[in-house]
Amino acid sequence: MRVIAVLNQKGGVGKTTTTINLGASLAKSGRKVLIIDLDPQANATSGLGLDKAIINNSTYTLLSGKSSFNTSVVETGIDNLFILPAVPSLAAAEQELVGVLSRETVLKNAINQAKFDYILIDCPPSLGLLSINALVTADSVIIPVQTEFYALEGLGLLMQTIQRIQSGLNPDLKLLGVVMTMVDSRNALSSQVIAEVKKHFNEYVFNSVIPRNVRLAEAPSFGKTVFEHDKWSKGARAYKSLAKEVMNRG
Ligand SMILES: Nc1ncnc2c1ncn2[C@@H]1O[C@H](COP(=O)(O)OP(=O)(O)OP(=O)(O)O)[C@@H](O)[C@H]1O
Ligand SMILES: [Mg+2]
Repeated sequence: MRVIAVLNQKGGVGKTTTTINLGASLAKSGRKVLIIDLDPQANATSGLGLDKAIINNSTYTLLSGKSSFNTSVVETGIDNLFILPAVPSLAAAEQELVGVLSRETVLKNAINQAKFDYILIDCPPSLGLLSINALVTADSVIIPVQTEFYALEGLGLLMQTIQRIQSGLNPDLKLLGVVMTMVDSRNALSSQVIAEVKKHFNEYVFNSVIPRNVRLAEAPSFGKTVFEHDKWSKGARAYKSLAKEVMNRG
């Protein structure tokens, strides 16, 4: 079982889009995949077509000890793809956890019965206790980086946080890779930014880049992954290629 945290504390860089579509692609290649929605915005949950209003068990109830792992996981309607959904009250869990002993390992302990080939954790845009729980639970991290002028901003702090977890609570944690998102090949800035990110992260930058593609942006409004929305789109092909790289980097 591989547990991958999808994390960048910067907002709107493509974490959720990557989690959903990488997860869907891995599931399509026959892997049993669980997406854990660890963001109170619950975008992965709604993006996969789940109605927040009728969710009983969630990452909130799991982390607060009110539901078990097995009763919190739900089917997505896509073969091999499951989700542990989020609800907005997950924001409260972050506060409640502060007072809990071993508050950084609550998620890890809560999912110890999980049997999946891949678990992908969609993190909130912060380095708070929820993201720390993801880093303690995961064996590797994927960092989506949006191809824009300020792309590198915040990555120093993110790498320091990863190193802090490595030297303490999770020595096995690895950087799996950096994925460039919303790449516009007609824009010279895009290739400059990619070159700059490669200077810092070298071979950690995935060869697959995710283009800016309207199909990727539309899909969640239909509660669909890009593969159901338009499987021939550039976005779908890019995430299929990323999934291959992720499987090979195992
Ligand atoms: N490759 C892409 N092409 C076009 N639009 C994209 C692409 N990737 C993401 N988007 C859109 O950009 C917005 C931000 O993407 P997403 O929600 O995946 O980012 P995020 O990092 O999860 O955001 P947050 O930090 O708020 O959780 C969304 O509206 C999404 O549909
Ligand atoms: Mg998100």
